[in-house]
Amino acid sequence: MKPIRYGVIGAGVIANYMARAFTEGRDSVALAVTDVNAEAARKLAPELGGAKIASDYREILADPAIDAVYIATPPFLHRPMTLDALRAGKHVCCEKPFMLNAAEVREIIAAQKAAPHLKINSASSRSHCAGTAKRARQMIADGELGTLYHICYEQVNPPYKPGSVLPPWRDDPAKNGGGISFDWGPYDLDWLSFVLGDLFRPRVVFGTMGNYFPLTKERVPPCLNVDGHHSVEIICDSGLTIHWSRRAAEHGPVRHNIELRGTKAGLDAYMMAMPERPGMLHYAYHGTDELKTTILPDKGPIWEDTMVNPIRELSRAIIEDRAPSNTPEQNLRIHSILDALIVSVRTRQAVRIED
Ligand SMILES: NC(=O)c1ccc[n+]([C@@H]2O[C@H](COP(=O)([O-])OP(=O)(O)OC[C@H]3O[C@@H](n4cnc5c(N)ncnc54)[C@H](O)[C@@H]3O)[C@@H](O)[C@H]2O)c1
Repeated sequence: MKPIRYGVIGAGVIANYMARAFTEGRDSVALAVTDVNAEAARKLAPELGGAKIASDYREILADPAIDAVYIATPPFLHRPMTLDALRAGKHVCCEKPFMLNAAEVREIIAAQKAAPHLKINSASSRSHCAGTAKRARQMIADGELGTLYHICYEQVNPPYKPGSVLPPWRDDPAKNGGGISFDWGPYDLDWLSFVLGDLFRPRVVFGTMGNYFPLTKERVPPCLNVDGHHSVEIICDSGLTIHWSRRAAEHGPVRHNIELRGTKAGLDAYMMAMPERPGMLHYAYHGTDELKTTILPDKGPIWEDTMVNPIRELSRAIIEDRAPSNTPEQNLRIHSILDALIVSVRTRQAVRIED
């Protein structure tokens, strides 16, 4: 089978991390790269295995030799670039956040209906390749935890490194969607969507947000206009409740906790690469006084693998002519939660998500 031939649109920070996806393995190669910053494209081209430099993204879309595009531009460009790519007959791997809101995702779903052979995924799906995520998904599907009734998903990010400079689009919700909720939220919600499968049917959302950055204030001054922490309650159709919070740097330790609780057993999982963790923890009471804790041996996320997984996964989906592990329909649920969170914060009310 011939490799899937990509055009890379945007040659910034993340495209440089993704470059290995096109030079290692047999499924994906990069034929072209473009960036409005020509120097960035020139620097990245050799890392992509000698991709040619295109003058702009439309040149990539017009190239019949290119099968798919990797869109690694700021979020406000994801919608127009994805729509143009679909119209040009290209498969799409789009960076996260997939879009700016659910209405934009609906446009993508409509465009894909007009070209159903084209595959689309979001790079928020990077942790799907971890053995831990696959095992948690299987255990839930097989009923090993019983009826899943509550999840506590809590993450605290480390501070940015001193001297970090972020691009100005990150400080503008019109270009970025929001702060940490749109930067990291899609990874969290995508993990939940993958692991929960059909149970991930969010119906009611109540949330709070803040933009206090005690540690980043003196370190990353441009990032003060957007949210730095949120705390959200999500009620799903099945009655499953999810407490989801993510906080940027704070005066407290980094935390990566995902506690899934069912009527038969509990599971402590994690989404980030944490080589020091021996595995997920499985809990079950034997009688009422003996809590049995079992360490599950499945491999957790490996940073290098997760970074390139969205491109690898899209290429496999194209080659095998199947849906990728993340689809626009799943992104609609993710963005519906983010939309509802913003309304809930503004109104201080719980918000219902309609189908
Ligand atoms: N930085 C990260 O660690 C990271 C991680 C995961 C995902 N992402 C996501 O990837 C996307 C890009 O983030 P980044 O950190 O690489 O940003 P960045 O600002 O470093 O890179 C974006 C690049 O897009 C280019 N660009 C802008 N308009 C363009 C256009 N019309 N045509 C071609 N190129 C254009 C810019 O010149 C820039 O080089 C965002 O959606 C972000 O959320 C970033």
